[in-house]
Amino acid sequence: MAAKKKAVVKPAPPKTAGVVGWPVGHSLSPLIHQTFASREGVDAVYLPIAVEPGYTAFERAMDALKAMGVKGVNVTIPHKEHALKYAASASDAAKAAGAANMLTFRDDGPYADNSDIIGFASGLEAILTANDKRGRAVVLGAGGAARGVIIALKSLGFSPIVILNRTAEKAEVLAKELGGETAPWDSRNQALAGASLLVNTTSLGMTGEPPLEIDLAGLPETAIVADIVYKPLETALLAAAKARGLRVMDGLSMLMHQAVPGYKAWLGSIAVVDADLRARLEKALEARS
Ligand code: ATR
Repeated sequence: MAAKKKAVVKPAPPKTAGVVGWPVGHSLSPLIHQTFASREGVDAVYLPIAVEPGYTAFERAMDALKAMGVKGVNVTIPHKEHALKYAASASDAAKAAGAANMLTFRDDGPYADNSDIIGFASGLEAILTANDKRGRAVVLGAGGAARGVIIALKSLGFSPIVILNRTAEKAEVLAKELGGETAPWDSRNQALAGASLLVNTTSLGMTGEPPLEIDLAGLPETAIVADIVYKPLETALLAAAKARGLRVMDGLSMLMHQAVPGYKAWLGSIAVVDADLRARLEKALEARS
């Protein structure tokens, strides 16, 4: 009779995910995912992964990560469009945005998704009340970030969506493609009259960039002002909105909420965005400044 084989218990390797970008060293995503994982005791590793610009470098890095058993990655600048190109399949949100910030290495091939859209929508929903009119939404900018924001605003029922951009043609392309109106960049103060919401998606107001020049006097007192910039956390735009007593949504809000789908897809099952998470991120931002 053959001797009974002893069962060898192999320890399961930690679940691994990461964020791919260039540069990526200052990403707050590792802190967000590690906070979620430690809260529910999940053995997980979430790495910042620097991949130099260009599709070839991105493709090689993704092939390697997949071979290493990485579950999936968040993707940031300058690779969001590469992620969509690399994927075998993609969500409607990623297709509509023309960019992906999530890539999941599935058995049937890499799958691209876009959680920036739901991240922005969730951040805004956390502020919106049943009494809020989802009327005129003024969007400043017409880049990749604006595209995601406009899709999110449409999903929340804001109408009309008015897009203003320094380069008017880009605003017109977005308005035509996604549904919306345009107004000249120089008319931004007047465009605020009667608006339920103002969103800055431009780089203006970011540390090292020129300020966003705008007078918020035309906004009704029920309006919400959102800025997707989080360096600095309180932009001059948000400070001016607060001074007027308006509700604000900052860039950290979107960042925290966009992490939830990736965490649930790759590492664990409970991802709660709360004041504790925000406090940890604010502390990390302060330590860096
Ligand atoms: P993202 O993907 O983050 O949206 P982007 O595609 O580079 O980045 O878009 C940057 C946005 O900021 C654009 O709307 C840009 O306006 P243009 O399309 O006219 O370039 C806007 N922006 C950047 N610098 C600006 C400035 N000095 N004045 C006005 N708008 C500016």
